[in-house]
Amino acid sequence: MLINVTFVCLGNICRSPMAEAVFKHMVKQAGLESQIRVSSCGTGSWHIGERAHPGTQRVLHDHGIPYEHTARRLSPTDLSTSNYLVAMDNENIEGLRRAGVTQAEVGLLLNYAPHLGIQEVPDPYYTHRFEEVFRLVEAGCAGLLAHIREKEGL
Ligand code: 4NP
Repeated sequence: MLINVTFVCLGNICRSPMAEAVFKHMVKQAGLESQIRVSSCGTGSWHIGERAHPGTQRVLHDHGIPYEHTARRLSPTDLSTSNYLVAMDNENIEGLRRAGVTQAEVGLLLNYAPHLGIQEVPDPYYTHRFEEVFRLVEAGCAGLLAHIREKEGL
């Protein structure tokens, strides 16, 4: 069975594309590419069709993580086909709830890394702290992969 993981933020140019790239890289390193499909989207429509923010592109490049992304908006298909919808902050969770019902497990990325003691990934579109966000995203993705492997028996 293919497991669909979809990361969700507001604009789909900063945080969720970063999480998508980091998580894809981890999935590949774990040899699980044929079992876990990874994507990302935003609840807002301002940046549809754009590449990721230069700050996100830069940290991914600095950490040697391959990147390819075109921003898109959350769609009904995301709600109906995702097994995991992983949000960056509570505003994204609200956006998901407004968009409709889903069978997916819906959660905050940092809830998969409870040792960090923080719930929301701050928005670097406003803070410009892309490296700090990368560290949070990396820890959240590691916890998420461990959670999925345990839950799905991978
Ligand atoms: P993201 O950051 O949700 O991490 O992609 C944002 C990008 C754009 C905007 C807000 C947040 N915006 O308002 O245009």
